[in-house]
Amino acid sequence: MRGFSVPIVRALAALCVAFAVPAAAQEAEPRWSIAIHGGAGTIARENMTPEQDAAYRAALQAALDASAKVLREGGSAMDAVAAAIMPMEDDPLFNAGRGAVLTWDGDIELDASIMDGSTRDAGAVAGVTGIRHPIVLARRVMTDSPHVMLAGDGAEAFAAEQGLERMLPEWFETERRRDSLERMKAEKLSAIDVDVKFGTVGAVALDSHGNMAAGTSTGGMTGKRWGRIGDAPIIGAGTYADNRACAVSATGWGEYFIRVGVAQEICTRLRLGMTVSQLLEAAEDGVGLISNSASLVSAASTFEEAQQTADDVMGEVKELGGDGGVILVTPEGHALFSFNTSGMYRGRATSDGVNEVAIYADE
Ligand code: GLY
Repeated sequence: MRGFSVPIVRALAALCVAFAVPAAAQEAEPRWSIAIHGGAGTIARENMTPEQDAAYRAALQAALDASAKVLREGGSAMDAVAAAIMPMEDDPLFNAGRGAVLTWDGDIELDASIMDGSTRDAGAVAGVTGIRHPIVLARRVMTDSPHVMLAGDGAEAFAAEQGLERMLPEWFETERRRDSLERMKAEKLSAIDVDVKFGTVGAVALDSHGNMAAGTSTGGMTGKRWGRIGDAPIIGAGTYADNRACAVSATGWGEYFIRVGVAQEICTRLRLGMTVSQLLEAAEDGVGLISNSASLVSAASTFEEAQQTADDVMGEVKELGGDGGVILVTPEGHALFSFNTSGMYRGRATSDGVNEVAIYADE
């Protein structure tokens, strides 16, 4: 390009692109997508009454509608994630906020986290009591403190400074969760036996500005003791968002999701741009990853590649003995689920007109 300066070449290139792209494409709708979950586990049609089935679907649809509205109106992925999670924290159907499971001592200790994929800023809280919306507190940790994670009394003192809403213990506690704890103690059952499903809630979003966010909120597992914390508030395990790759929120047996580092593992694999089978093929062909360093930054993934990557990582959870599921969105706008249980309360909506909620694995 001798004779032209770089800015002039760039300006000419931009003009060419502007004239070459058909008007319809230039006016294309901004793309957004959202996926939500309300827990995964042993969820079977035969164990649900029609009323319960309908109640879960209505609650999921309400959360999906609230977050889709934010995105449709040009709002941020962070706002959409909060808009989806807050109603589920208020709904006793889910194990988050009101209706959360009880600890061994009969208390309710809540965990939550949120991450902004555009900056990789994050906030999390663990083992907090009395906070109506732990997801809002997690976001305040991100925006109004110099820290990423606060726990217990300290997190509650911070919530008070921030003027966040508190509720009395009886607002959170439900008869169903009290019965589960009593049954667990009387029959010497494990949390997995009595919980049947992990009712953690979460949301992931891509907004029309190309930014992604993820958030997760939970009461953890019935009968938890000794300050047990699961994956939900752990950035990289239960929650992760990176504009270069994806946004993920998990639900399941937290100990396994922590050990696999599920949410970040999925995003890292997508950022590297290769599924496990592609990596193996590249190794067999003698293709050096380092020589392909551009792929270490980011790579577009198809729906199938994103699905395969999420399934691969969930396969690792299963191999270790854990179960649960994840939701994710990608920069290309794909919204998808992967779970190794018989059901997952879930929903997704996109600017392309997808709008659906589902419960069982076969739908
Ligand atoms: N996945 C929620 C927990 O294990 O606490």
